[in-house]
Amino acid sequence: MNNGNRTGTVLLVLAVAFFALGLKFVSGFGTRLPAPQNISLVDTQFLSTATFRKSYAELIREKADLSDFDCYACHEKGKPPTLKFDAQHNLIVPKEHEDIVMGHGTHNRNNNCFNCHDEQNLELLQARDGRQIKLVESPLLCGSCHGPTYRDWEAGAHGRTGGYWNRSLGPIKRQICVDCHNPHRPKIPSLTPAPGPHLLHPVAAVAVEDSH
Ligand code: HEC
Ligand code: HEC
Ligand code: HEC
Ligand code: HEC
Repeated sequence: MNNGNRTGTVLLVLAVAFFALGLKFVSGFGTRLPAPQNISLVDTQFLSTATFRKSYAELIREKADLSDFDCYACHEKGKPPTLKFDAQHNLIVPKEHEDIVMGHGTHNRNNNCFNCHDEQNLELLQARDGRQIKLVESPLLCGSCHGPTYRDWEAGAHGRTGGYWNRSLGPIKRQICVDCHNPHRPKIPSLTPAPGPHLLHPVAAVAVEDSH
């Protein structure tokens, strides 16, 4: 046999072998792939961009029920309601306002209704310097006590700016303090964290966790 013939045979054997391997690969014969995992969709609550609450300004935009803000449907003009306190000097919130749970700051530091509402005109708010403020302008009230946070918010470092980066497509939307903080109980409620990513090798991951 000459060299040319031998090379030809070797190449033919290799070609047949690779063809057979290729067939096995394509047909999947003899390989056991693990069953694909069923990955459930992310709960839509983690995709919502809604703020924690709806402010008075937002309710006006949505033309929602505003009866809670109609103070003089129940109160008498020119007769400011008197605040009632218990023996420990804790404010008693009357039954008619039982949906208001006061808790502004630790140790109930800012629970007095008239720290914020204007007793002469319940439909207005009142800043620390006596300025009367409309309900829709409540950030000015918050800012009268929370100066640094208010400045951060004005600069866009506190709160959230939505809308459009490209102003030619549309305006930006700045949430106001009471879109996120309940003025009566401003601490943000704790949130359920969204689930972590799906692991490629869940079994191996469990083994790693067990070794801790
Ligand atoms: C830290 C400031 C602050 C204090 C203290 C405060 N409020 Fe308010 N209150 C506000 C602001 C601001 C709004 C408007 C919120 C909005 O725009 O959604 C409001 C809204 C309301 C409303 C209308 C709708 C609602 O939330 O029920 C009522 C009624 C009310 N306050 C009563 C009271 C009473 C009664 C007290 C005392 C027990 C009190 N507030 C203490 C700031 C305050
Ligand atoms: C559904 C009727 C109703 C509406 C609406 C209402 N109030 Fe009252 N409010 C009452 C009653 C009743 C009391 C207890 C008697 C009183 O002090 O006049 C009261 C008490 C209060 C007090 C004294 C709270 C305390 O701890 O003693 C404040 C302050 C007050 N209201 C503010 C407001 C403001 C501000 C609004 C509008 C944003 C408002 N209320 C709307 C019925 C109402
Ligand atoms: C009269 C002054 C005053 C006004 C007006 C006021 N705050 Fe406060 N706020 C306080 C004080 C005092 C604390 C408590 C600080 C502490 O305990 O260290 C506080 C605490 C807070 C906290 C921290 C959370 C907590 O409960 O400890 C948040 C958030 C807050 N305020 C948001 C607001 C918002 C939003 C407004 C406007 C609706 C507002 N505040 C209006 C005085 C004020
Ligand atoms: C888009 C939602 C959002 C808006 C709008 C917003 N806040 Fe906050 N704020 C938060 C969150 C979230 C925290 C952190 C909550 C926590 O740690 O409990 C916070 C924390 C705070 C605190 C606690 C102290 C601090 O700085 O960490 C204060 C006070 C406060 N905000 C005041 C304000 C005031 C005043 C405004 C309006 C001028 C405002 N916030 C607007 C979401 C918001």
